[in-house]
Amino acid sequence: MKIAITGGAGFIGSHIVDSYIQQGHTVVVLDNFSSGSRANIHPKASVIEIDITSPELISIFEKEQFDVVNHHAAQLNLRVSTEKPTFDATVNILGTINVLEAAGKSGSVSQFIFASTGGALYGEFTGQYFTEEDEVSPQAPYGISKLSAEYYVKYFAKKYGFIYSILRYTNVYGPRQNAKGEAGVVSIFINTILDNKKPTINGLGNQTRDYVFVADIASVNTLLLTYKENITLNISCEVETSVNDIYKEIQIATVSNIEPNFGTPIPGEVMRSSCSNSKLKTIFSWSPSTTLNDGIQQTVEFFVSQRQ
Ligand SMILES: NC(=O)c1ccc[n+]([C@@H]2O[C@H](COP(=O)([O-])OP(=O)(O)OC[C@H]3O[C@@H](n4cnc5c(N)ncnc54)[C@H](O)[C@@H]3O)[C@@H](O)[C@H]2O)c1
Repeated sequence: MKIAITGGAGFIGSHIVDSYIQQGHTVVVLDNFSSGSRANIHPKASVIEIDITSPELISIFEKEQFDVVNHHAAQLNLRVSTEKPTFDATVNILGTINVLEAAGKSGSVSQFIFASTGGALYGEFTGQYFTEEDEVSPQAPYGISKLSAEYYVKYFAKKYGFIYSILRYTNVYGPRQNAKGEAGVVSIFINTILDNKKPTINGLGNQTRDYVFVADIASVNTLLLTYKENITLNISCEVETSVNDIYKEIQIATVSNIEPNFGTPIPGEVMRSSCSNSKLKTIFSWSPSTTLNDGIQQTVEFFVSQRQ
């Protein structure tokens, strides 16, 4: 199949590119390189440098005749979304509409895969894992723009007759995650420790998240290519891990005794977050194959190798 991956130069998108190429698909990456890097892109993938909001997108899609569009390009910084909600909406809502229109008007696309969020859509976790059918209540413009984009994906899928796959990820971590932003505590802590500096934990570090290794996310994106029905899926591990426990795992993997600083909590941050993956297990017999311990070890090895 010929597959377009927006955001394919980024952290998650580039792992999906690798997986699709390994399966023998033809892959075209569409990226503006605002946070992604050419070094992440598999040499067998073609690259088109473009912003997803560009009016030129439609002619590119008409020319390329993609079978599947996998849409991962986004503005994903929570703080940017609150400080610049118009920018967030421009990329995440208008950009997504532009990609959807290009997919529809090209006449060739049969499936549209969209990277949404679990962590920023559901509210505070109270011990009952959120399912895809639970009420959503995004608390920041990022979650609002992703939810809005989900509705546009459904609308355009119906309008143009393609299948949609909406994937709600919890907290993804692994090799190639950008350590310069403020999301992605695993890569930030690892790189700060490797720089021999003290990482800062926001608040007391008791806040929990549901961490999924990026290879597991790529495996679901690959499985979905054979699933020809509309679906909305959480991708999670159903394991709550506190930031303090993540830090301890990283200390072990980096053989470090650097202790963290504790900063002020991020206002409005949920204290607990986790989602159910039972739909994924039932339909695809899928379970995450990487333990947190292994995933952190692989991530440390990646960042150490980058410095050699
Ligand atoms: N990382 C996570 O934990 C997580 C969790 C839930 C959902 N997601 C979603 O997964 C997707 C990928 O996230 P990531 O962590 O790989 O981030 P990333 O920043 O590494 O990747 C995003 C990619 O999109 C590109 N991009 C951004 N704006 C663009 C634009 N206007 N036009 C073209 N390209 C553009 C960037 O250059 C980058 O290559 C996003 O849609 C994000 O919302 C990520």
